[in-house]
Amino acid sequence: MSEKRHQVSRRQFLNYTLTGVGGFMAAGMLMPMVRFALDPVLRPTENQEMVQVVSVDELTEEPQRFDFKINQVDAWYESEESRSAWVYKNGDKVTALSPICKHLGCTVNWNSDPKNKNMFFCPCHYGLYEKDGTNVPGTPPLGPLDHYEHEIRDGFLYLGKAKPKGAG
Ligand code: FES
Repeated sequence: MSEKRHQVSRRQFLNYTLTGVGGFMAAGMLMPMVRFALDPVLRPTENQEMVQVVSVDELTEEPQRFDFKINQVDAWYESEESRSAWVYKNGDKVTALSPICKHLGCTVNWNSDPKNKNMFFCPCHYGLYEKDGTNVPGTPPLGPLDHYEHEIRDGFLYLGKAKPKGAG
C-alpha cells in the first residue's frame, strides 16, 4: 500500500498565509464599522427623563388630563413625542394614570359615560376603570391602567415612564 504524502507546496503555503493575513486585516477593518453601525442598538435604553408637567397647585381631587412632550431616543432617531396623563391628588398623594386602555389601546376619559359616573370610560368597547385605575371586572380590560412614575420638585409635578401598577 502506498502511503499518501501530505506535503504543502510553496505556492499553497503562500496562499494559506496570504489568505489568513488578508482575512485578519479585513476583520480588523470591518469590526469597528460593524460596531459603529450597531452601537445605538446595543446600548442599553437610558432611563427616560422626568418631565415637568404642571404646578401641584393646579391639581384637584377630580382627575384632570394634562398633555406633555417627552424626548424619545430610539437607536439613531431622536424625536419629541406627545404624552397625556390623568392626574389627581388625594391629600398629599398624587396619582398619575396613563390614558391608554389596557384592552386594545384606545384612550380612556374621565366621567364621560353618563351611566358610569366618576369612572374612567373607554368608548371603544365600553371598558371601565375605577378612579385609581383599577379595571372593573366584567368589562373588556383585563388589567389596571398604567401609573406614571412621578416626583414633586419645587412645587411642580414631574412625570417619567408609565408602568404597570406595582412594577418598580
Ligand atoms: S380598547 Fe378600551 S375597551 Fe377595548
